[in-house]
This record gives sequence, C-alpha cells and structure tokens, in this order.
Amino acid sequence: MKIGIIGAGNIGGTLGRIWSAKGHSIIYGVRNPLAPRVQTVLEESEHKATAASVKEAAMKSDVLVLATPWEAIGEVAFQIVDITGKILIDCTNPVKPNPEWPLAQGSSAAEEIAKRLSGFRVVKAFNTLGAGNLSDVMFGAVHADAFICGDDAEAKQIVSELAKEIGFDAVDVGGLRSAEMLESLAKLWITLAYSQGIGPKIAFKLLQK
Ligand SMILES: NC(=O)c1ccc[n+]([C@@H]2O[C@H](COP(=O)([O-])OP(=O)(O)OC[C@H]3O[C@@H](n4cnc5c(N)ncnc54)[C@H](OP(=O)(O)O)[C@@H]3O)[C@@H](O)[C@H]2O)c1
Repeated sequence: MKIGIIGAGNIGGTLGRIWSAKGHSIIYGVRNPLAPRVQTVLEESEHKATAASVKEAAMKSDVLVLATPWEAIGEVAFQIVDITGKILIDCTNPVKPNPEWPLAQGSSAAEEIAKRLSGFRVVKAFNTLGAGNLSDVMFGAVHADAFICGDDAEAKQIVSELAKEIGFDAVDVGGLRSAEMLESLAKLWITLAYSQGIGPKIAFKLLQK
C-alpha cells in the first residue's frame, strides 16, 4: 500500500518505520525533506521510505496519515489536493487551541478535518497511546488496543489491518462522532503517564468476558 505520512516526528516517523519494514511504500510529506530529523527517519527505514512536500505525499498515496501538531493543521490542509475517496488517518490530539480551526463544544479534531477536507474518508486512530509504545505494543502476552472510529466501513477495515500489522488488537468505536471520546482518552493517557507519574509505557485495553 502507498502510505503518505504528513509529519516525520514521534508518531509519523515511528509508524512509517514499522509499515516500511512490513513492505508498504512510505512517502513522508514534510516542510523540509532535507532536514536532519527527516533524514534520520529515512536512514532508520533503510531508505525504503522517501520524503517530499506535503502536497506530493498527499497526491501519491492511497492512505494519508496526519501526524502533525493540531495547531499546524490549517497550514497542512491548505496544501492537500487530489483527495477524493482517499483514506485519511487522523492521529492528532487537539491538546493546544488552534485559532484557525477552533473546536466547537462537543466537536473533535477529526470531525473538523472531515468537514474541511470533505473528499477524505477520515478514520481516527493511533492517538490514544504514546508514540514510544508503537514499536512494541505487547504488554506481557496482551496486545494493546488501537481504538478506531470513522464513518466508512471499508476505510476502517483497512486501518484495522494496518493496526494489526503493528501488533495491536483493533477496536471499532463506531462513527467519526466517537472521535471526541478517543481524543478525551488521549488526555486520560497523558494525565496518567505524566501528571500521575505512572510513566509513558502504558496503553489501554478493553477487557471482555
Ligand atoms: N507523541 C505522541 O506520543 C503522540 C501520541 C498520540 C498522538 N500524538 C499526536 O500526533 C501528532 C504529532 O505528534 P508528534 O509527537 O509526532 O509531534 P512531533 O514529534 O513534534 O512531530 C511533528 C511533525 O509535524 C511536522 N509539522 C509541524 N508543523 C507542520 C506544518 N505546518 N506543516 C508540515 N509539517 C509540520 C513537523 O515537522 P518539522 O520538523 O518541519 O517541524 C514534524 O515532522 C500531534 O497532533 C500529537 O498530539 C502524539
């Protein structure tokens, strides 16, 4: 699969390294493809991944991953064209306000993105645990859960498969309306990891009997 990843930071860089090792074709969409941080990410994927502009990465991919700060989303979205029917995986967490894209009460980053980039099939995923866990999502014998929501069943199925390749169990949380809950879950993760001092090697698991 051709996967474009906007942002080669903690989340984008790690997802790209993992999926590249699984044989996917990764193209990072970045502000400066020659930046040392980007070059390091490309080296770590043994140069099987490439880097280009945000616009080119969006155009050349089947699935696009948004892995930039929420505050940057207006600037990023402005560069994205040729999107009809593409899957967009939104990993962002609106932890800081975005004056350009203020969130209405009860709305979510994912729903705002879906509204403004209306050709995409938006799926919220990979936002509910710290990036440092992505390389190893096993907790003993237990697979961490990837909570996924979106309005398109086929898009969610494809994202679930990508999650399973990382080692997650995928949990479908329903339509994109559920993104608000997943973004709140991320705030719970941050609170537990840092304010409560548990540390970042934690993840959520749905228990069932
Ligand atoms: N870190 C985590 O554990 C974690 C977990 C779950 C979700 N998230 C969410 O994932 C997103 C990314 O977090 P992160 O920790 O990966 O951030 P990060 O390490 O700071 O990386 C952000 C990436 O976005 C790029 N970027 C920033 N502004 C941009 C712009 N205007 N246009 C194009 N690219 C831009 C940066 O490129 P430059 O190098 O050019 O600045 C960098 O590649 C955030 O929304 C965060 O809330 C993070």
